[in-house]
Amino acid sequence: MTRRFYVTTPIYYVNARPHLGHAYTTIVADVAARFNTMRGSQAYFLTGTDEHGDKVVRAAKKENMTPREYVDTISQLFRDLWPELSVNNSAFIRTTDPSHMAVVEQVLQKIYDAGDIYFAEYEGQYCFGCERFYTDRELVQGKCPDHETAPEIIKESNYFFKMSRYQDWLIDHIRNTPDFIRPERYKNEALAFLKEPLEDLCISRPKTRLKWGITLPFDRDYVTYVWFDALLNYVSALGYPEGEKYQNYWPVVQHIVAKDILKPHGIYWPIMLKAAGIPVYRHLNVHGYWNIEQSKMSKSLGNVVEPLELKNIYGLDAFRFFLIRDMAFGLDSSFSEDSLVQRINSDLANDLGNLFSRVVSMLHKYCQGIVPEIEPAVEQECEFGLEADARNAIADYEDLMESFQFHNSLRAVWKFIGRMNKYVDVTAPWELAKKKSSRKSLAVVLYNLLEGLRIISGLIYPVMPDTAAKMQKHLGLDPQEPFYLLDRLKTWKTIKPGTQLPKSTVLFPRVEPAEKKGNQAAAPEKSTRHPEIKPEITIEQFSAVDLRVATVVQAEKIPRAKKVLKLEVDLGQKRIIVAGIAEKYAPEELVGKQVIVVANLKPAKLMGIVSNGMLVAAVDKSGPTLATLDQPVEPGTPLR
Ligand code: MSP
Repeated sequence: MTRRFYVTTPIYYVNARPHLGHAYTTIVADVAARFNTMRGSQAYFLTGTDEHGDKVVRAAKKENMTPREYVDTISQLFRDLWPELSVNNSAFIRTTDPSHMAVVEQVLQKIYDAGDIYFAEYEGQYCFGCERFYTDRELVQGKCPDHETAPEIIKESNYFFKMSRYQDWLIDHIRNTPDFIRPERYKNEALAFLKEPLEDLCISRPKTRLKWGITLPFDRDYVTYVWFDALLNYVSALGYPEGEKYQNYWPVVQHIVAKDILKPHGIYWPIMLKAAGIPVYRHLNVHGYWNIEQSKMSKSLGNVVEPLELKNIYGLDAFRFFLIRDMAFGLDSSFSEDSLVQRINSDLANDLGNLFSRVVSMLHKYCQGIVPEIEPAVEQECEFGLEADARNAIADYEDLMESFQFHNSLRAVWKFIGRMNKYVDVTAPWELAKKKSSRKSLAVVLYNLLEGLRIISGLIYPVMPDTAAKMQKHLGLDPQEPFYLLDRLKTWKTIKPGTQLPKSTVLFPRVEPAEKKGNQAAAPEKSTRHPEIKPEITIEQFSAVDLRVATVVQAEKIPRAKKVLKLEVDLGQKRIIVAGIAEKYAPEELVGKQVIVVANLKPAKLMGIVSNGMLVAAVDKSGPTLATLDQPVEPGTPLR
């Protein structure tokens, strides 16, 4: 019987451009799908975009677009990014796809008919940023924990989903189903939520407040709340309820999400499935968060990491390797370019790259690049247990990949790479090459090393598909073949003697710190690191931005905020501005300085303080450098 595997990523909101966090989850799903292909399974891998809700309406308005134009634009950014990152998704779903919308209506009707949806008046504390009501218990000092703003009291009639009815069932299901939510810490977190009585879920918004959503089939005056819409993508994409893909893949579904959306996936979703009579998913795999040099990645802190930028500087496979190797799946990880450079130089350039070029060069030097014949008589004495170690490495790798411990599966491969490097040292082929009497041993040693490299190239395939293919090619093998199939890797001695190898190649050049720092002389391609020039605008559009000279009157740190300072500036009138410059500037050096301010920017709340404007700065890897004038002018003077 065909083995199957179905993996999903969250469908990403279209109110932000894709960043490192989205890239991580999607690359993990790609690795999991490719690994399952290695085992001979048919893998189906779904990703997509989540496009309804008032956040989207607001973002579209800001860009002067209709919601439809806006979601089309941002969704396309995600869709276009994945092939650039070697992400081989089978499908891309959008919640605005008519086929998805039809499934949402159908499931809503089914649950409504079964009596699990009711209408009631509700008054609650609503956070517009999160698009949801908060209970007192969930608020932190009366504020939304994500947005740090006080919620607004809203009273309205809405539809509710009777989640409470399924609470005991879900507790039993989580307890009794091994690895239903993994790793363990997130299973415990979900069980901890369930210790408190579960509140019914508000699943609608009146159209008077929100039109950009899927209309409830049983009340045309309402649209459905975003989670009820979004979660159903996982079945609608398969053609639920009749589709062949649904029949084939739904029974083996595994979801991947980060810890931020554990609650909707660990609680709402299984209950929705149960209520709709759809079998519950197999595993929910939850990973941690990438922080940037210890802080949360956010637009307001200006530290959002763009995956394509890193790919362009360091190479795609190195970037993919770093993400998978550096984050212990389930735990948070801190991203820095320094650790990326270190990984490239130690694991890729040194360990793997050197081994590869050493072996291939020796084959050219001692055997004219032709895979040697080996004689069984000398095989044993030159083997030193290498084949057994390869077998063990494959077995460990398989177990670890299967249980979503990707970083450890790479460690198992690197342990074998270390073993191969030792084998070279112990057998010293350069010594064997000196004497005619040891030529046969030399042949066996080089052959074993080629076999070891063949296995390594197969094992790195899910994480570094391009490098795996390049290694195959330089081992004289056909990269178009499914060389990565585990059954093939488990068969020792498959490279044919007599095969001619192409010239050696460098798999991973070392990355010099100067290059990484963007030093002009060492890295002439630095300009590729800046975003492209934005589309042309008219002088009228430019003059809509009111830039003013302002003098800093006061500057102070904000408790608990490492990155931002609170400034009082004078631009003809006094204003408070919160600026993300605390890591570069001390408050005292700012007072008296003249800066440039975007004076007509819509106020925004940052760290609980309303910021009335924004300072203009050049932002590079060292942080923001403030724009100033070369001579003092009257505060409030406009710029043009
Ligand atoms: N639209 C919802 C999901 C609906 S799924 C039915 C949503 N979208 S999101 O754009 O906010 O994406 C959240 C997901 O993006 C996280 O669960 C994670 O997969 C990924 N990440 C976003 N930031 C991240 C980090 N800083 N680190 C790691 N992954 C993160 O929630």
